[in-house]
Amino acid sequence: MNERTHWDKIAPSYNDEIFDVFESDKDGKLVKNMNRYIQASDTAIDFGCGTGKALHLLSPRFRSVVATDISGECLTAAKARGFGNVTYKRADLSSKAVRLPQADFVFCCNVIMLPEIARNESMFSNIQKSLKPGGIAMIVVPSTDSMLYSAWRMIDWYRKEKVDVDDIPASELAYFSGSKRDLLQGIIRIDGVPTKHYSGPELQVLMQRAGLSLVKLEQLNYKWDSEFAEPPKWMQAPYPWDWLIVCRADK
Ligand SMILES: C[S@@+](CC[C@H](N)C(=O)[O-])C[C@H]1O[C@@H](n2cnc3c(N)ncnc32)[C@H](O)[C@@H]1O
Repeated sequence: MNERTHWDKIAPSYNDEIFDVFESDKDGKLVKNMNRYIQASDTAIDFGCGTGKALHLLSPRFRSVVATDISGECLTAAKARGFGNVTYKRADLSSKAVRLPQADFVFCCNVIMLPEIARNESMFSNIQKSLKPGGIAMIVVPSTDSMLYSAWRMIDWYRKEKVDVDDIPASELAYFSGSKRDLLQGIIRIDGVPTKHYSGPELQVLMQRAGLSLVKLEQLNYKWDSEFAEPPKWMQAPYPWDWLIVCRADK
């Protein structure tokens, strides 16, 4: 898939179409962790900035911010937010040739989720290369465990309404239309787009491989309306989640 064309096409309707992590972060963990882990306030990179939804959090905390993305259209929308200390750079962040200035902090929210596993690993490695020694990254990625748990809740909900698992409409299971190989690698279709999901132990291995020390791996919880159009009131905690990784470049 060509992400540049894909995301350039989505950019004009991005705010309506793309899940908003910043609005949906039920317990405000993104801001809490930024407040806890941002120490040096020199430079930050928004790695895969999209239309710039994180810039209101990053711009006031840093002297300068580099917002980078593969999509020129997304960068144009990000620029229109008008933050004076942000510069913009179009780049394929999965490329081994990518060159970014070294930063104290990297933020990367729902970008490292390509169906091409090797390119995701390159992005983790590029984050490591973009950090100053001791620099911190906060990375958000989809969770395999949350996806399986949400599927179980959906089946359980049907069961409560006396619908047997065999009678659940096929459209509800469209997530799982990929091959066994995709499924075992955590590649699940979201709105038809194959999207890489991660298990917790897998992330521990990947951080180590990228030369990043895992500081914290926690759940960034969302309400059930992030999964279902009209979730029943009785459906409460545990909630669905993305992984929030806090890691450090110890070099
Ligand atoms: C789901 S959006 C998230 C954007 C933003 N971080 C946010 O949370 O609103 C994914 C973004 O990753 C960017 N992206 C995907 N693949 C990329 C790549 N190889 N290099 C750079 N950016 C990429 C897309 O252009 C898109 O803006």
